[in-house]
Amino acid sequence: MSRSAHPAGPRHADVFPEAHYSAPAADLNVLDEKVWARTVTRDADGALTVGGITVARLAEEFGTPAYFLDESDFRARCRAWADAFGPDADVFYAGKAFLSRAVVRWLKEEGLNLDVCSGGELTTALDAGMPAERIAFHGNNKTVAEIERAVETGVGRIVLDSFQEIVRVAHIAQRHGVRQRVQIRVTVGVEAHTHEFIATAHEDQKFGIALADGQAAEAVRRALALDGLELIGVHSHIGSQIFDMAGFEVSARRVVQLLAEIRDEHGIELPEIDLGGGLGIAYTSEDDPREPHEIAKALSDIVTRECESANLRTPRISVEPGRAIVGPTAFTLYEVGTIKPLEGLRTYVSVDGGMSDNIRTALYDAEYSVALVSRTSDAEPMLVRVVGKHCESGDIVVKDAFLPADLAPGDLIAVPATGAYCRSMASNYNHALRPPVVAVRDGEARVIVRRETEEDLLRLDVG
Ligand code: LLP
Repeated sequence: MSRSAHPAGPRHADVFPEAHYSAPAADLNVLDEKVWARTVTRDADGALTVGGITVARLAEEFGTPAYFLDESDFRARCRAWADAFGPDADVFYAGKAFLSRAVVRWLKEEGLNLDVCSGGELTTALDAGMPAERIAFHGNNKTVAEIERAVETGVGRIVLDSFQEIVRVAHIAQRHGVRQRVQIRVTVGVEAHTHEFIATAHEDQKFGIALADGQAAEAVRRALALDGLELIGVHSHIGSQIFDMAGFEVSARRVVQLLAEIRDEHGIELPEIDLGGGLGIAYTSEDDPREPHEIAKALSDIVTRECESANLRTPRISVEPGRAIVGPTAFTLYEVGTIKPLEGLRTYVSVDGGMSDNIRTALYDAEYSVALVSRTSDAEPMLVRVVGKHCESGDIVVKDAFLPADLAPGDLIAVPATGAYCRSMASNYNHALRPPVVAVRDGEARVIVRRETEEDLLRLDVG
C-alpha cells in the first residue's frame, strides 16, 4: 500500500494526530487479494463477483446485509491445512469461528476434524454427520448434560479444563462403562496478542490448569488415577490472531517439558499434544499471515527439537485453526443508506447492518477494510467511517478507511474477511434480524443459514 498518496478532503491524522489509519491505496478499485476470498474478482463492468456471480445479483436474490462465503476457498483452505500437517497430525477446525451443517459436511469431506465447545455445536456436528470420534469437546464449564451427551455419543476427546471436570467426566464415563479419551488443557504462561506475545509469570484468566505452580502435574496425577479416563495428551491454546510463532515456541517447549516430567514420574509417554488455534489472518493490507505449510513446519520443528532434547518420542500433534480457515473466505455485503460528511473530521457512511452482524470492531477495536463493490469509481478517495444502524455511537463496522468520494446511497459496499466470529457472534440488538450466510460456488449460490425473520423474533417472545 502506498503511504505517499494523499487523500482528498480532510486528513484524519491532521485532526487526530494519534489516530491509526493508512493512506489510501493508489487505486481504490483494485482488490487486495490478501483480504478477499479467492474467487473474488471484478467483472468487465467493474462489479465484484464471487464464485462467478456478481454482487448485484446476490443482493437482489438474498438481500443485504448478508455474508457470502466462498465454498471452494473454504474447502481449499481445509485441504491446505490437512496437507501441510500430513497424516501424522490432526487438524481440528474450531467451530466457534463459524459453524453450520453445510460447514460440517465440507469438513467431513475434506478430512478435517472438529472442535466444539458447547452442546449446540455438538448437536450441529452430529446432526450433519460428523463421526463422533473426529470431534473434540472443549469448554471451561461444560454442563453435566453436555458431558453426558459427549460421552454417550462417543466423542473422540474431551479437553479437561478444571479439577472438578476431571472427576465429573470420570464418573460419567464410568457410569456408561467406557474409558473416555481426554486431554488436559494447561496454561503455559504465554499470553499472545496480535503481533506480539507477553510471557507472564502467573496466569490470570479462566481457561486451563496452570503449569507454573505444579497444578497441571497434579491434574495429570488425578486423571491417571481414575478408571473412567484415558489420558491421551496435553492441550495448550495461547490466544488469537497471532502472527509471531515465538509464542507457540514457548508453549510447545513448556508442554514438552511437562510430557518429560510425566514420563519421569509415571513412566509413561503421553502420545499426543494439541497446540490449539489462534493463527492470524489479513483483515487489512498491512497484515501478513503465514501459510499453513510454514506454520506446520515451524510447529513440528519446535516439537521435534524439544522432544529430542528431552529424549522423548515425538507425540502426534494436533492444531485447532478456526479463523485461519473460515475468516478469509467470506465478506459482508451492505447497502449504503446515508452519508454524512462532517467538516474537518470524516464522512460517516451508514449501512443496513452494524454491530449486530460484526461486533468485533466495537469489542476488540478490530481493524477491517472496505470496498465499493457494485461499481468502480475514478473519484478521489474520501476518508470514511462505516457505521451501522444501531442506537449506539460505538456501532462501528470499519473505523477508518477510504471509499470513493462519489459514494451514494444505494451503492453496495463489502467488508472482507468476515467469515470468522461475525455470524457466530451476531446478535439481535435493537431486534435486528441476523443476516443469512450464503455459500457461493461455481456460479451457484445457496443459503446455508437463512436470514432471521420478524416471525422468528415473535416466536421466541411468548408473550
Ligand atoms: N482452540 C481453542 C481451545 C480456542 O479457545 C480457540 C478460540 C480456537 C481453538 C480457535 O482460535 P482461532 O484459530 O479461531 O483464533 N471472538 C474472538 C476470538 C475468540 C477465540 C476463542 N477461542 C474474535 O473475534 O477475535
